[in-house]
Amino acid sequence: MQWKHKDLLDVSQLSEGEVRHILATAAYFREINSRPVKKVPTLKGRSVVLFFAEPSTRTKTSFDMAGKRLSADTFALAKSGSSLVKGETLKDTALTLQAMNPDGIVIRHSSSGAAQFLAERLDCSVINAGDGRHAHPTQALLDALTLSRRWKGDFAGKTVLILGDIAHSRVARSNVLLLTLLGARVRLCGPRTLLPPRLDAWPVEVFSDLSAACKGADAIMCLRLQLERQQAGLLPGLREYARTFGLSERHMAAAAPGCCVLHPGPINRGVEIGSALADSAESLILEQVENGVAVRMALLFLYLTRKSPDAAQVAAQSGMPE
Ligand code: CP
Repeated sequence: MQWKHKDLLDVSQLSEGEVRHILATAAYFREINSRPVKKVPTLKGRSVVLFFAEPSTRTKTSFDMAGKRLSADTFALAKSGSSLVKGETLKDTALTLQAMNPDGIVIRHSSSGAAQFLAERLDCSVINAGDGRHAHPTQALLDALTLSRRWKGDFAGKTVLILGDIAHSRVARSNVLLLTLLGARVRLCGPRTLLPPRLDAWPVEVFSDLSAACKGADAIMCLRLQLERQQAGLLPGLREYARTFGLSERHMAAAAPGCCVLHPGPINRGVEIGSALADSAESLILEQVENGVAVRMALLFLYLTRKSPDAAQVAAQSGMPE
């Protein structure tokens, strides 16, 4: 099987088989990340632009590390250091970057559809690293890898609760699509003002009471309050929100045995999640970050080479020449 996609805009482009291939490819690359020398020559000579027009710690650093561990050359461009601040349009910025012949552009942008806008205009691969409220496919894929390792690849019959600011969350949108595709049941819980409209069209169960939502859950994914995307007046206050929708250890008693907790980060301790729970054995938050590097290595490999996932196994096994 050759990888047929040029761009990754959202998980809706992927079949279940393709998602499982990405996760299997990431599993090969995960092993590289535990070696003393964390580098293979797989993408030597390829170049990737990391174009982040919004802040990021995890996604940007892990794409940078992923590229470098596969020997690609990575070039980071932030909005504040780019000619966007001088009035250059996104289209002209993209065409300018393309003229330098990169093999891929990873883009984060505050506008929903920005990644698609680039993908339609550029010959190189475009990977969406988060666009507005729309999608964050690489986050959903790393979350799926984290849960897949926990559940040995079997999502059937598992219940995942996504908790918090669903309305402004691209992570929630991509995760609902991906978890459903893999066979899990998805629940949503949050204040009415932070739930999106037309939820009846989503394949989810909606709860307004956190204790009821946690009952029997196999995994609970807390979301960050996206204060930068919210209008004023959606919440009475952070203390009130934390009291009603903040996840803490007492909620875990109602969840299924072995229930784990995820958060895409950055976390607001004591708001979306209690500090003790974030640091507890149930928390997979740092494992998510670790898996992010492997998933992004897999994505750079598949989208830049369009080779089969089997070739990734060979690539992962090859060492870097001394
Ligand atoms: N989860 C996530 O996208 O984190 P960053 O904003 O730090 O990249």
